[in-house]
Amino acid sequence: MSEARVRDGSVESNITASVGKPTVVVTGGAGYIGSHACKTLAAAGFVPVAYDNLVCGHRDDVKWGPFIEGSLEDRTKLDNMLALYRPIAVMHFAAFAQVGESVLDPGKYYRNNVVGSLSLLEAMRDHGVKNLVFSSSAATYGMPAATPIPDDHAQNPINTYGWTKLMMERMMADFSAAHGLSWLALRYFNAAGADPDVEIGERHNPESHLIPLVLDAALGRRPNITVFGTDYQTPDGTCIRDYIHVSDLADAHVLALRHLQNGGISGGFNLGNGAGYSVKEVIETAEYVTGRKIPTLFGQRRAGDPPRLVGDASRARNILGWKPRFSDLGIIVEHAWNHRKGYCHV
Ligand code: UFG
Repeated sequence: MSEARVRDGSVESNITASVGKPTVVVTGGAGYIGSHACKTLAAAGFVPVAYDNLVCGHRDDVKWGPFIEGSLEDRTKLDNMLALYRPIAVMHFAAFAQVGESVLDPGKYYRNNVVGSLSLLEAMRDHGVKNLVFSSSAATYGMPAATPIPDDHAQNPINTYGWTKLMMERMMADFSAAHGLSWLALRYFNAAGADPDVEIGERHNPESHLIPLVLDAALGRRPNITVFGTDYQTPDGTCIRDYIHVSDLADAHVLALRHLQNGGISGGFNLGNGAGYSVKEVIETAEYVTGRKIPTLFGQRRAGDPPRLVGDASRARNILGWKPRFSDLGIIVEHAWNHRKGYCHV
C-alpha cells in the first residue's frame, strides 16, 4: 500500500492506492447498493473508489477503498478523479430513486440522473475509460405485457424515474457506437436485504421501501404498516414483486465487470429471482422472521404501482453465469432484520 495526499483546489482526499490491483470507480459508492458493490469488488481483488455527494449516501458505509465527495455534474472533480485513479471501469449507481418524487419533481431527476450521467459519460470518453456497468431498473419496462419479464421485453416507462434510467441506456448505446464504450445496464427488480456480515445495509431517509418499513413496524419505530391496495388482480389482492438480495446484485456487478473486461457483448440484463411475493406474504414472512406481530392497515392503491413485477434473468444467468445465493425471501428478510434492529436512524 502506498499513500498520497492530493490537493488540487477541488479534490482533497486521502488516497490509498493498492499496488497492482485494478481500480474501479463506484459512483454512489456510499449508497445502499453501491456500498455492497464496493465490498464485493474488494473481495474480488479490485480497489473500489467511492464517488458520492452524500445526499443519499453515508460516509461511514465507505469501508473498502478511497472516498471522494463530489457530484456527477462537477466535471473538474470527475476529471481529477479519473486522471488520478485511472480506473479500468466505472460502476454507476448514483441516482435519485424515488418513483413518486420523480413524478412530482421531474427536473430534479432529469438533472441528476440524466444530465449527471451524461457528464460522467463524457468524462469517461475523455479519459479513455471504456467499461461501464450501470444501475438500471425494472421501472424501464412500465406496465409489462409478459411475466416473468424477459430481458428483451419492450421498454416503455410509466414514470419519470423509469425514463431517466432508459435515457441513460440510450446514451450508453450511442456512446458505444461513437466512442467504443462497452456497457451493461443491469435492470434490478426490488433490491432488498443487507450484507450477511451486517457491516452495511439499507439506510434511506426518508424510507419508502416495503421491507424496512415493515421491520420498523416490528421494532415499534412506527405504529404500523399500510398495505397499498388489496384489490389487484393477484391471488391475495396485493401487489407482487421480485425481491432480490443486495449482495446478489453486487455479485452480478462483478460478473458484469469481468464480462466486459473479456470483451463480452453490451446490453440490458435483468436481475431478479424470477419469483414473486405479495405484500401480504412479505409481512407474514417478516412476522415469522422477527417473531413479532406486525400491526397492519389496509389502504388505497399507491399511484403508479404495477400489480406484478417479476423478472426473467436468463441473460445474467446464461451469459454472466450469475446465480443468486440468497433467493429465499426468509433469508432476505432475516438479513435486513439483522441490520435494521442494530441501526438507529434517528
Ligand atoms: N408497499 C406497501 N406499503 C408501503 C410501502 C410499499 O404496501 O408502505 C408496497 C408497494 O405498493 C409495492 C411493494 O410494497 O407493491 C413494494 O414497494 P417498494 O416501495 O418497496 O418498491 P417498488 O416496487 O415501488 O419500487 C422498486 C424500487 C424502485 C424501482 C421499482 C421498479 O424501489 O426504485 O421497484 O418498479 F423503480
